[in-house]
Order: sequence, then structure tokens, then C-alpha cells
Amino acid sequence: MINRTLLITGGAGFIGSHYVHMVARDHPNWTIRVLDLLTYCGNLANLEGLEGRIEFTKGDIADPDTVNEVMSGCDAVVHFAAESHVDRSLIDSRPFIHTNVIGTQVLLDACRRQDVQRFLHVSTDEVYGDVAGTDSLSLESDPFCPRSPYAASKAAAEHLVQASHVSFGLDTVITRGSNTYGPNQYPEKIIPLFSTNAIDDADLPIYGRGDAVRDYMHVEDHCLGIATVLEHGKAGEAYNLGARLEVNGREVAESILQAMHKPESLMRYVDDRPGHDYRYAVDPSKAESLGWQRQWSFEDGLPATVQWYANHESWWRDIKAGTHYKSHDAAWYESRPSASS
Ligand code: NAD
Ligand code: DAU
Repeated sequence: MINRTLLITGGAGFIGSHYVHMVARDHPNWTIRVLDLLTYCGNLANLEGLEGRIEFTKGDIADPDTVNEVMSGCDAVVHFAAESHVDRSLIDSRPFIHTNVIGTQVLLDACRRQDVQRFLHVSTDEVYGDVAGTDSLSLESDPFCPRSPYAASKAAAEHLVQASHVSFGLDTVITRGSNTYGPNQYPEKIIPLFSTNAIDDADLPIYGRGDAVRDYMHVEDHCLGIATVLEHGKAGEAYNLGARLEVNGREVAESILQAMHKPESLMRYVDDRPGHDYRYAVDPSKAESLGWQRQWSFEDGLPATVQWYANHESWWRDIKAGTHYKSHDAAWYESRPSASS
């Protein structure tokens, strides 16, 4: 499509903003609308350089009036907006239900009314639940077994997306991405948290024994996967996006410290995350059959990311100095004593 109008929700967040930059670069003729509430992790600095190129609306995806207005005339919706942090969902699940569940349904209802041609829902490998104790990879046909309030809210959203496809014929596609890292990630997730702590010679708080495994995918690969599914995915289908790179928490900490020439004495083992899932690992063959292939290895992507945080101190220092960051950090980590204490 030459002149597409795209609505991107959550486009001021981590992955959403990378996707906005990618679309602006690759599709100069497309109109890009971004709807984002600018919650604690939404950040207009992530969209720097796109002033005048994108139409930005600050608003809530759960507000039908706002959604109807910004969706008017859109060909496709790419839906990133979410509460995305598992630890926060263990403290207060209400915003997760509001945004991830109710917000998704409001968008789906508006898509039907406005005759949007495709709705891409950005989901997560967490819907499959823990696959520890086996070497097997989750397939799109596997049952859901979400185990945190965050994962449960994302699974609920997926069911609503599928229901809109089946009941009303809405053209929907779903991506289930694995753990994503790269520049501009809010420093509450493991890689930006550990990188920025290490820069300050602060401890890296490793949950439990550090043996929980995630499949770490670079944000550029995640965005390319979403673009591929938007263009070539089959309506009503879901697609895993993963890097086939399984790394545990201890190895993440060691790699970051090594990249920064910092001592391993900064590793601090703390109380485990309640209900911690010990392994997520997806089989991305279905997305690969559409022509997508991840480009980044962890060996290249991790040091490049650590370097980005070292080179962009003002971006994350502004965040870490804020009251919202400080209050979560204090409430969560001060309640997690060192495993040895
Ligand atoms: P993020 O937390 O960095 O960004 C979320 C964005 O959504 C923010 O800009 C925020 O302001 C916005 N938002 C939140 N509530 C909103 C609301 N009610 N209305 C409008 N905007 C709202 O998240 P992220 O890490 O970039 O994740 C983006 C999507 O990708 C999420 O749906 C997440 O579940 C999914 N995902 C993330 C990862 C990962 O590792 N980060 C992996 C797989 C899937
Ligand atoms: O797998 C996809 C999911 O990846 C996304 O759906 C989520 O939005 C995203 O936040 C991420 O969830 P995780 O819970 O896997 O990410 P997090 O960075 O919080 O944790 C990654 C691993 O590191 C996990 O095993 C817990 C561990 N960890 C995390 C933090 C924040 C620590 O050991 N210490 C920490 O301080």
C-alpha cells in the first residue's frame, strides 16, 4: 500500500518508539499517528527527531472517544500500548487490567466501527507460561498458561483479539515476542537496570539463583518481525518472535559487567520474584516462513546496548531521578534482602 495511514498505540514506549522510527524511515509516504498516555514509561524523548513527521496524541486507549477520533481514516492499527512490567503487576494489577484488557477491547470495538483493514496485536511469549525442565520450544498452537498478573492480562487481551476475529470477521494478527532489549528501554527491566547500575558501581540485584532463562531478542529484530507479520501474516493467526538465544539472569549480569570492565562483586543475589517463571523459549519458525530472520546475536547486541546506556546518561538519569522511579525502586528492592543475609 503506497499511502497507508497507521495508528501506533504505545509509540512513545520502548519497542513502540523503535517501530515508529522504523516506519518513518522505511515508509516516507505513510501517515503515522501515535496514541500514547505517556505513563511512567512513555517518553517523548524516544520520538526525538520525528517532530512534524508524526501526529502524536496524548490519550488513553481505554477512552472510546479519544480512540474513535484518532483511529478515523486509519488503514491499520499496531497495538503496543500496555503495562509491561511483571514486578509492577505483582504490586498492583489494576492498571494492567485497565490498559491491557479493557484498552485492547476498546481498540477492537473502534476497529470494527471504523472498518480498519488490519489490527496487529503485540503480545508476549509469557502467555505460554513456564517451560522450565524441558528443552522444548513453545509453538503457536500450545495452550496458554499465564502465571503472573501481567501475563494473565496479556493472555486475556489475546482472547479478546481472537474473539473479534471469529465473531466479527475483524482482520487480526498477533505477535508473541520474547524478552526484548536495546536502547531506550525503561531502566526497570533487567538489561537497562543492570547496565545503568553498573555504570554507577551499584549492585545488580539477581533474583533467586539467577538461573531463570529468557530468550533475548534485540528490539530492531522485534520491530522487523512485527513489520513482516503486518504485511504477510495470515488473518486470525499468531506468530512467535524469538531469537533462539537462551540466557539466564546470572549470565546477563556477567556479560554486562564484562562489557563494562566492572567487577563481579557487584552481583547481589536477592529474594526471588514470586511465581518466577524459570524459562520462556519460543519456536519462531512460523514467522521465519514469512521471510523474517533475526539479525542480532546476544554477543553483539548486549555490548552495543550497554554502550548506548553509557553514551546516553542524561536519558536514563532523568528517569532514575524521578519520584515515580524512586518509589518503585525503593518499595520493590528494599523488600528483597540479599539471599545471603
Ligand atoms: P513500555 O512499557 O516501554 O511502553 C508501553 C507504552 O504504552 C508507554 O509509552 C506507555 O505510555 C503506553 N501506555 C500505557 N498505558 C497506556 C494507555 N492506557 N493508553 C495509551 N498508552 C498507554 O513497553 P514495551 O516494553 O515497549 O512493550 C510494548 C509492547 O510489547 C507491550 O504490549 C508488551 O506487552 C509487549 N512485549 C514487550 C516485550 C519486552 O521485552 N519489553 C516482549 C514481548 C512483548
Ligand atoms: O518475555 C517477554 C517479556 O519480557 C515481556 O512480555 C515483558 O513485557 C518484559 O518486561 C519481559 O518480562 P521479564 O519478566 O522476562 O523481564 P525482566 O527484565 O523484568 O526480567 C528478566 C529476567 O531477569 C527474569 O528472569 C527476572 C530477572 N530479573 C529481573 C529484574 C528486573 C532479575 O534477576 N533482577 C531484576 O532486578
